[in-house]
Amino acid sequence: MTAEIIYGSELAQEIRGELKEEVERLHQTGVRPKLSVIIIGDDPASKSYVRGKQKASNKIGMDADLWEYDSSFTEQELLDKISELNEDKEVHGILVQLPLPEHIDEQKVIEAIDPAKDVDGFHPISVGKMMTGQDTFLPCTPHGIIVMLERAGIQVEGKHAVILGRSNLVGKPVGQLLLNKNATVTYCHSRTENLQEMTRQADILIVAVGRPSIISSEDIKEGAAVIDVGVNRVDGKLTGDVDFESAKEVASYLTPVPKGVGPMTITMLLYNTIESAKKFNR
Ligand code: GUN
Repeated sequence: MTAEIIYGSELAQEIRGELKEEVERLHQTGVRPKLSVIIIGDDPASKSYVRGKQKASNKIGMDADLWEYDSSFTEQELLDKISELNEDKEVHGILVQLPLPEHIDEQKVIEAIDPAKDVDGFHPISVGKMMTGQDTFLPCTPHGIIVMLERAGIQVEGKHAVILGRSNLVGKPVGQLLLNKNATVTYCHSRTENLQEMTRQADILIVAVGRPSIISSEDIKEGAAVIDVGVNRVDGKLTGDVDFESAKEVASYLTPVPKGVGPMTITMLLYNTIESAKKFNR
């Protein structure tokens, strides 16, 4: 079997085209969706991510302001800035780029964001609503994965989804979203015994651990759909958690890195911000 490659990059372009039209419609009604992004410190990867978010926003005609502070910015200063953006009626989405410098309590910052503007979906209220299947902002990477599966026509209901990785950002929420769609979900992690036995049972295998080539063909059931969420730099080259060349010989669907899940994450952020703007003006 040779897998069909799911290019998130192409799907993202298609969805961003739809979102651009949505922004134009909102502009005509006097609503200007706006995202505010805060970044602290000078980590080059984080800086490049937030610039990408701003650029993608502008490209669909959406306003996005970027608040950049150096790593001496205090926790209180950050909380004050969030409070100001919470009150600002022109701002529909607030995103604080993670990770934050050590002297800032990440959880405290996440909880300071008004859940009505929590376009990252990280606030405990958003997480709780997602857990109970209520309408809320879904976290962008897990939501992007679900949309990729849907648009590729991959059946989720009744299927065995195995998640490798249990992070709050990806592993845990993507399992919950798959469960909400009636998959049978197994979580695997660094302490899982007989890992290969588990991954080989997956109809849908989501790999999100940040270890290059941790999964290859012998870990995959023939015909499985494999979603690679890994972003690793090996010898200066971007690579995923799945050994692409061997995996594509056994999987039925496979996402590449780059051009896979990554572009979908930003797209779902744009989607959440537009949804927020629509709610504000109801
Ligand atoms: N750092 C890496 N990914 C993300 C994300 O999706 N949102 C935020 N806020 N920070 C991140």
